[in-house]
Amino acid sequence: MGKVTIDGIEVEVQDGINIIEAAKVADVHVPHFCYHPSLTVVGQCRMCLVEVEGMPKLQAGCSTTVKDGMKIHVWNEKVEKARRGQMEFLLINHPLDCPICDKAGECPLQDYSFNYGSVESRYGEFKRTYPGMDRTAIGPHVVQNMNRCIHCTRCIRFCQEITATNELAFFKRGAATEVGVFPGTPLDNWMSACVTDVCPTGALTTREFRFESRVWNLESVDSICNGCDVGCNIFIGYRNGQIFRYRPRVNPDVNDHWLCDYGRFSYERYDTDRVVVPKVRNDDDYLGISTWGEALDAIEKAMKSAGRIAAIASANMTNEEATLAKALFHRLKATVGVLVDPIGPIKMKSRTEWLLGTQGAPNYRGVSKVFNSSPENLLTRGAAGIDVLYVCDAEFSDRAKDPAVIANLRQAKFLIVHSWDANHPLNEVADVLLPSTIHAEKNGTFTNLQGREQRINEAYPPKGQAAADVEIFRRVGAKLFPDAPEFRAAATEELEPAEAVGT
Ligand code: SF4
Ligand code: SF4
Ligand code: FES
Repeated sequence: MGKVTIDGIEVEVQDGINIIEAAKVADVHVPHFCYHPSLTVVGQCRMCLVEVEGMPKLQAGCSTTVKDGMKIHVWNEKVEKARRGQMEFLLINHPLDCPICDKAGECPLQDYSFNYGSVESRYGEFKRTYPGMDRTAIGPHVVQNMNRCIHCTRCIRFCQEITATNELAFFKRGAATEVGVFPGTPLDNWMSACVTDVCPTGALTTREFRFESRVWNLESVDSICNGCDVGCNIFIGYRNGQIFRYRPRVNPDVNDHWLCDYGRFSYERYDTDRVVVPKVRNDDDYLGISTWGEALDAIEKAMKSAGRIAAIASANMTNEEATLAKALFHRLKATVGVLVDPIGPIKMKSRTEWLLGTQGAPNYRGVSKVFNSSPENLLTRGAAGIDVLYVCDAEFSDRAKDPAVIANLRQAKFLIVHSWDANHPLNEVADVLLPSTIHAEKNGTFTNLQGREQRINEAYPPKGQAAADVEIFRRVGAKLFPDAPEFRAAATEELEPAEAVGT
């Protein structure tokens, strides 16, 4: 540890860090483009110049290591003049087409242009352009506009240092230098869209989010990717009850700055009709719309005469939902199992290690601590002999869409299903269908493969009459066991997740 002074603020910092990182400790921002905390330092853009007392020239904040006693000036006249000069260079050829650029609103180049750009340029000649390279699909997810590139090499270093797939490189020389892929080798690695996060301009954007929404029209909530058991930290970008994108939320211990493409675009599965009302099968064998009261009455009637009750939990449930489900099924003397679909493995790089996602749901680790048997028999041999089968989430496994599995589960005399996807085939065979929510519509915690309990937050309320599983279990519990304290609303409130670790 050493003490440095940054714009008059003395702070204690770790040995060996650079001036940009040291300034963060003092809450001082050093403008920069090419520096990225998880990539090697190249000192290319010169935007991070700062003054260090005792050094004759301005120093690059990214490539200068702090020393005990250093006095650094990030914001003074000399530094600002250099920054303006550097911006003038960077903007010689940049189109500054922010009004039609998807990075606008979250673009470092736009922000710094606003702060340090000049309305006049000393470079009078025409801007250099890359004809025909303003919307090039360089991979399945990434679209490139080379005119906006400032040659910071962050994208190239990402493909060299993080995925080690080396798809991107500089081609040509001098002012004509361009970023591109080798012929026949698209940017198609499993984390390819991360280059759009590291790109400090609108040169790289994702095919999926391009022109879907101006970013300032989106709201954002902290959450966790539910694609696998790594549990990458994300921001959900949403508007009017619809998810528009996931972005990585930095957590050095889990996903650092990254997301895999599968997880990043997994919100597309929610672009479907939703179950918004309860349904109950009537005496004519028709599954028709009901009130919650009628659905709960039907469940009560079935449970009262039931001998054998079984339940299938889901690795998509939060820890809090699993806790309340356990209380309900314990009182019902039901047997409960949970299974998870294998996936990947998906490699994800934390700051210090590679994590391997192998389970296709976010919380098998947490839910299987609560329910430690498997419902495999029900799926493969059938539910004959079961009076009531309670499926806590139609999405508990992709196998629940298999007609043979559906037929096996339907062998139960009475089938209760929680579901949010109106097109899920299991819905059609239910006796009571209860409208549930996706993870963006509830609060709770997931436990990832490291045993780290991480919080998800509600972005927007459930659709129609849908309710989070925890609320559904509470309603069912309160109906069946009116005197049981755990199903009172206040008790359920207490199930609100504890402070998550590592978020
Ligand atoms: S495409 Fe973006 S990240 Fe890549 S060099 Fe250009 S500006 Fe940098
Ligand atoms: S590694 Fe897993 S948790 Fe992370 S983004 Fe991919 S699917 Fe989501
Ligand atoms: S951030 Fe230091 S030179 Fe680019």
